[in-house]
Amino acid sequence: MPYAKIIGSGGYLPPRVVSNDDLAVELAERGIETSDQWIRERTGILQRHLVEQGVKTSHLAVKASQIALDDAGLAASDIDLIILATSTPDFIFPSTACIVQAELGAKNAAAFDVQAVCSGFVYALTTGETFIKAGRAKNVLVIGAEVFSGILDWNDRSTCVLFGDGAGAVVLSASDEPGVVGAQLNADGTQMNILAAAGNVSHGVVVGDPFLRMDGQAVFKFAVNSLAQSAHEVCEQAGVQLADIDWMIPHQANLRIINFLGRKLGIDSSKVVVTVDRHANTSAASVPLALDVARKDGRIQPGHLALLQGVGGGFTWGSVLVRM
Ligand code: ACO
Repeated sequence: MPYAKIIGSGGYLPPRVVSNDDLAVELAERGIETSDQWIRERTGILQRHLVEQGVKTSHLAVKASQIALDDAGLAASDIDLIILATSTPDFIFPSTACIVQAELGAKNAAAFDVQAVCSGFVYALTTGETFIKAGRAKNVLVIGAEVFSGILDWNDRSTCVLFGDGAGAVVLSASDEPGVVGAQLNADGTQMNILAAAGNVSHGVVVGDPFLRMDGQAVFKFAVNSLAQSAHEVCEQAGVQLADIDWMIPHQANLRIINFLGRKLGIDSSKVVVTVDRHANTSAASVPLALDVARKDGRIQPGHLALLQGVGGGFTWGSVLVRM
């Protein structure tokens, strides 16, 4: 049975960088008080990238995908499956994956979206690996892409300072060499209310609340505990020790969550990839963006073992162990 190996990656962030100070000024104009100090101390976030009006998730996804395809040395026509993780699709339908398929000219690819909020990329990567292992696909483009700025209530300072927009992508290919060596996914729908955008459109009218709402402290506890347990389980499944992990690439929600998690697992901070300071929380895009940064700056080398972890609304969480 072939392995599924990451042979290329790409990331794309919209060019508009908004620092905490910039955001504080913008929010002050609406009568909302925040500060660089509050955001930095509570979250580790220094800045975020935000799209201009009208830029959609597919636009970011296409750019990240083109970079990933070039990195992999493949043409769009070599891809036989596109899996795109997002909670901010361009439309109700078609899927954003289909829009990306058309834009890339990936005419041989099936395409669908995965909705697991901030765990979306880990879910999508596991799905791609499963297709490859089953012999149903050879080259899978796995994307995490979000325009979270579109579902934020910019009058709610407890959430709007936390997120950014962006996209990350990997090319996962059938290989005789080890690639994905373990995967572990979970969900607990009874926790749906601690993080949700509980609205929809029906009969042309917005029904419910279309903005992201969160119980920050409940999310914090859930994220640390669930990711710690998931890390142990995926290592046990793969027959490796936590000490064997070269790089931990957790969902980039909050530096305090990342630090707590690293300490709980006994993984030294020098082995943890952090991008939340520059990207903020880009939901499904955060893990592939962080992976791409650490591959391109030379930290992640072929043969290294990387632990990718996602956690988010649903509640959903999970881990993928990858031999790079
Ligand atoms: N600027 C200034 N003050 C603020 C801001 C802000 N942006 N937001 C909230 N405050 C105030 C509150 O109004 C409150 O004031 P009060 O004491 O006068 O009532 C005070 O700060 C403390 O508010 P808390 O909500 O208790 O702040 P907390 O210390 O819990 O930090 C945070 C909030 C950062 C959200 C924290 O709970 C957290 O890190 N949670 C994890 C959740 C997370 O990172 N989610 C990301 C999305 S989920 C995911 O991706 C898995």
